[in-house]
Amino acid sequence: MNEAPLARLDAARFFSDPGGTVAALYAQHGPVFRTRLPNGSFVYVLVGPEANRVVLGTDRGKFSNELGWQRIQRAGEVFGRGLTFLDGAEHALHRKLMAPHFRIDRAWDARPVVERVVEQETAGWVNGQVLDLFESFYRITFCVAAEFFLGITDHGQIEELIRQFRILEPLGTVGLRREQRLAAEKDAIARLRELLHPLLQLRRTEPVGDLLSHMASARDPQGRWLLDDDALHAEANQMLLAGHLSTSSLLAWLAYLLLRHPGYLARIGEDDVLRRVMLEAERLYPPVGHLPRVTVEDVEVAGCVIPKGSFVACSAVGGHRIPGIFAEPERFDPERFAPPREEHLKTPYALVGFSAGPRQCLGIHFAKAQIEIVVRTLFSRFRMELVDGREVVCRYQPLATPVGGVRVRVARRDED
Ligand code: HEM
Repeated sequence: MNEAPLARLDAARFFSDPGGTVAALYAQHGPVFRTRLPNGSFVYVLVGPEANRVVLGTDRGKFSNELGWQRIQRAGEVFGRGLTFLDGAEHALHRKLMAPHFRIDRAWDARPVVERVVEQETAGWVNGQVLDLFESFYRITFCVAAEFFLGITDHGQIEELIRQFRILEPLGTVGLRREQRLAAEKDAIARLRELLHPLLQLRRTEPVGDLLSHMASARDPQGRWLLDDDALHAEANQMLLAGHLSTSSLLAWLAYLLLRHPGYLARIGEDDVLRRVMLEAERLYPPVGHLPRVTVEDVEVAGCVIPKGSFVACSAVGGHRIPGIFAEPERFDPERFAPPREEHLKTPYALVGFSAGPRQCLGIHFAKAQIEIVVRTLFSRFRMELVDGREVVCRYQPLATPVGGVRVRVARRDED
């Protein structure tokens, strides 16, 4: 077995076009290469279906999610160890407990909640108003997650949760000095616990049928709570975090692409058309650009050895730009997903915006249904145009973020 080739990654180029940069290195070095991080250590970058299959499918037990995500951000420390952070038996137990609520046949259960939340969020929009859709999507998806997964309907309480989450998310404390940032985070973590603790205890004794109740009231064969208070807190945070961050990112990029391609926007009433544009948004702007992992033993990928303890970035955004898999990958072309081309189905593990394999995103069906409902509801009530004709830049911060937001001018259709 060979050592993985060493690639020079141009940081500036990578930040402005991560997908294109990684795909170019793939063309040069193949599906596995190493590059040096600013601190001198290596990251092994894995790109494309062959590598994805190893990390997410056949050899997934050799890669730790928890150690990987800890390297990216302190989310485990801040929000606790929710499902994304767990490995092995602990992961299997939590996933089995939560999975029934995320079945495909339940994906549309949230429709009334989503429609009502969109109604509330847009009630004050007036003709000619300029607003940032990304910001609105953040609020909409947060409110839906709080109500649908945790059963929180009190508006004041949701606003308070949003305030704390904004502090704890990576951009919340930008500009603050380190000690100020740590103090702000410490306060927010304490406040979050204070807000959620009574609710979690209530759901243990008086379950109401939502996901939180299901997790809170589950017992082991000896009659003890299956999840202790810390684990329950972490999963409640995970539901709020996973429930809004990536969904608002994909929604923003989908809305942006539709606004730039009015021919498609005019046809979103057709299920297949909206789904194809959503797949294209997932391909071009996967909210989670790189899936972080750490190897827990030596692993072989495409003839290269990745030693135990290595930091690995499984590049969704790079793999989505490989020309042999996706024709003319820089081009917006939703028809690539229509029969007979169906480029995403020709090669397993090619499209991985929601990951793939047994640990694929648990919320995939729910998220896709929610996105369809939000987009259709919004565009049926409002005409919108992008305020700025320029292309919106995508930065991974750490999720795919539209720099400056997606600014639109809105007009109510009922006043046309
Ligand atoms: C557009 C929206 C979404 C995208 C693109 C997305 C993407 C992803 C990705 C890439 C992963 C894999 C992370 C990894 O293995 O390192 C993941 C995991 C996960 N997602 Fe999502 N997600 C979305 C929405 C949601 C929603 C709405 C929920 C619901 C709460 C959710 C819950 C989860 C959970 C619980 C996991 C961990 C699964 C496991 O490790 O077994 N996601 N998601």
